[in-house]
Parts: sequence; structure tokens; C-alpha cells
Amino acid sequence: MSEQAIALVTGANKGIGFEIAAGLGRLGWRVGVGAREAQRREEAVDKLRAEGVDAFGVALDVTSDDSVAAAARTMAETQGRLDVLVNNAAITGGVPQNPTDVDPAVVLQVVDTNVGGVIRVTNAMLPLLRRSTSPRIVNMSSSVGSLTLQTTPGAFVGPISAAYAPSKTLLNAVTVQYARELVDTKILINAGCPGYCATDLNGFRGTRTPEQGAQIAIQLATLPDDGPTGRFFDDAGPVAW
Ligand SMILES: NC(=O)c1ccc[n+]([C@@H]2O[C@H](COP(=O)([O-])OP(=O)(O)OC[C@H]3O[C@@H](n4cnc5c(N)ncnc54)[C@H](OP(=O)(O)O)[C@@H]3O)[C@@H](O)[C@H]2O)c1
Repeated sequence: MSEQAIALVTGANKGIGFEIAAGLGRLGWRVGVGAREAQRREEAVDKLRAEGVDAFGVALDVTSDDSVAAAARTMAETQGRLDVLVNNAAITGGVPQNPTDVDPAVVLQVVDTNVGGVIRVTNAMLPLLRRSTSPRIVNMSSSVGSLTLQTTPGAFVGPISAAYAPSKTLLNAVTVQYARELVDTKILINAGCPGYCATDLNGFRGTRTPEQGAQIAIQLATLPDDGPTGRFFDDAGPVAW
């Protein structure tokens, strides 16, 4: 791209999302830090700017239609287009999460954030993405959403999960459907798994750093025009559905 590329990362105030913003910023991109809470958002923007990143804050709660619509208006007015959207924001819904006694309201809340949020933000930003010469959408998923791995004895798939893991299975399925609908456009949309990273999401028990986790998103954000779409990758390559 000849112009400075513009990205928006949801849930970018901390964890892997922050590192995705930092990594894209280090490429010289202008990066929108999507975050729902003003102070956390401003602190992240300040920290990124101190590292030399051309960062700006975008108020964004992915569960709120009004917030997402306002974020799209802000992006349209201040940036005019969007080259890369990274749908990173997610919640687990807490543990334990056994199907036999889970509160269905928790499942719905997790799906609303992890899948509904992706759909809300993606659809609101699509008109801006369509103005880009090389638009990319990266959905941060997880290998725990892989039904193949979930049914492979000995595979690392986290605790039994009635909400979080199935939400990532659904996110993968939705990613494929977007890719089908957008096949005749320039938009490439893929799901990425960051691996098991030490963040708030898992009480910092992960074995990789958030910066390592960000690498797959950066790779999928910078795919060439003939790159894949509707696929699911981690650092090692394709992940089984
Ligand atoms: N960590 C891992 O090992 C791992 C493994 C596989 C996949 N992933 C995926 O990687 C992504 C990033 O996870 P992480 O580990 O960095 O988690 P994290 O540290 O808990 O960060 C999650 C981010 O999402 C934001 N968020 C949550 N609900 C939101 C909402 N309604 N609107 C806007 N933002 C919201 C949080 O904002 P607040 O600060 O306001 O809560 C935070 O910025 C997620 O999609 C996760 O599922 C992580």
C-alpha cells in the first residue's frame, strides 16, 4: 500500500490485542485502539505513542449496537477508510463451565461478545473496508474451538467449556460464511489462534507471551492479495476445524 495503512483492533487496551496494535504500529501503520473503557483506552494509546506508534483511541463496546455504530461513524469521519480490522475482543465467561450445570445466560453472553461482537463490528466497518485496496479481516479465534482437537485424545484443548470453546467453534464457522459471501471482493477474512498466552483471560497461566500471540494476527493482517480466505491458522500453519 502506498498510503499509510489504517487498522482497527478491538479489545486493544491489553493482552494480545495491545500487542497486535503495537506490532502493526511498528510496521508504520496508523492503529485504532478499540476499547470500551475510557481510561484503559487512553492509557493504552499513550503507551503505544510513547513507543512511537501512530495510535488513536476508538470507544468501542462490541456488545453495544450504539457503541459500534458510533465507532464506525468516528472511523469514517477521522480516517475515511479501513484497511485491516482485527476482531480480537473476547471473554471466557469464567470457569468452571460444565455443560451440565452452566447458566445458559452465560453462554449467551459469551456468544454475544465473541461472535455477535465480531458480526456487529465487521458489518459496521465493511463500508470502510470496501474503500481499501487490500482489505483484511482477522478474527482472533482459538484452537479450543477446533472440534477435531476437542475430540483428539491428548490434544491441549483447555478445560471443559460450554461457552468459550463453542463460541470459537461458531466464530470459525461464521468466518467461513463471510469468506463465501465476500469471495468476489478484495476482502480476505481468516481466523487466527494465538496459542496459549499469559493474559488476564487465563489468569496469566499461558506459556507464550502476548507479543508471540500477536504474530499470527499480524501475519493474517498483511496477507498478499492472492492470500487465503476463510481459513484458520496458527503460527505452525492451518489448524483443523
Ligand atoms: N490468551 C490466550 O491464551 C488465548 C488463546 C487463544 C485465543 N485467545 C484469543 O485472543 C484474543 C485476545 O485474548 P487475550 O488473551 O488478550 O484476552 P484479555 O487479556 O482478557 O483481553 C481481552 C480484551 O477484550 C476486551 N473486551 C472484552 N469484552 C469486550 C467488549 N464487550 N467490548 C470491547 N472489548 C471487550 C477486553 O477489554 P477490558 O479490558 O475492557 O475487559 C480486553 O481488551 C481473544 O479473542 C481470545 O479469545 C487467547
